[in-house]
Amino acid sequence: MTQDELKKAAALAALDYIEDGSIVGVGTGSTVNHFIDGLAGMRNRIRGAVSSSEASSKRLAAHGIQVFDLNDIDSIPVYVDGADEIDGGFAMIKGGGGALTREKIVAAVSKRFVCICDASKRVLTLGRFPLPVEVIPMARSHVARELARLGGEPRLREGFVTDNGNLIVDVHGLAISDPVSTETRINQIVGVVTNGLFAERGADLLLLAGSQGVERLQRP
Ligand code: A5P
Repeated sequence: MTQDELKKAAALAALDYIEDGSIVGVGTGSTVNHFIDGLAGMRNRIRGAVSSSEASSKRLAAHGIQVFDLNDIDSIPVYVDGADEIDGGFAMIKGGGGALTREKIVAAVSKRFVCICDASKRVLTLGRFPLPVEVIPMARSHVARELARLGGEPRLREGFVTDNGNLIVDVHGLAISDPVSTETRINQIVGVVTNGLFAERGADLLLLAGSQGVERLQRP
């Protein structure tokens, strides 16, 4: 199976966790695109969705799925999203697509985080994938200096602006032995909007697609 076929298998497995009549939290990325396409097949059974990016909103709307403003919603039973890396404790690096801030916000309002991945995303230690950090534009140089002090090599994502009008700095070479403390530490740098570590609020269920099928793993 190709990597894209594995992404699709994980994404379609997530449909089993969608509750009838609910509002679904929807992430961003190529794996989630398969999920959105699958969700279209059951659009009459859900109320609609809350989306984590303009790209996902557009795809949902194209399928006739109503997209709600998060401010009008009290709670979301299930949030479905991919990851760039996920470790044994279900902490993740996310934001390869630059949607990390809205992803973290929608995840925070959701009861259950269902992570959909192909098997290549599973790692022992987070950090080989560069950690995305969303930054207020005027703070770019200050934040980069602070990230370098933490031992990483910050690189501006050239020509990229987030849905929130900010920049992304990708941090290479960070050794992330304690994801919760690294997430907290980076969030304390003035000018950082969010970082792509999802450790404080990690995934609850991992649907991991490999050549043998989709494994359904609960957070340890
Ligand atoms: C988007 O900002 C990311 O957090 C994605 O969830 C992550 O990059 C996974 O993307 P793919 O599903 O495209 O691999």
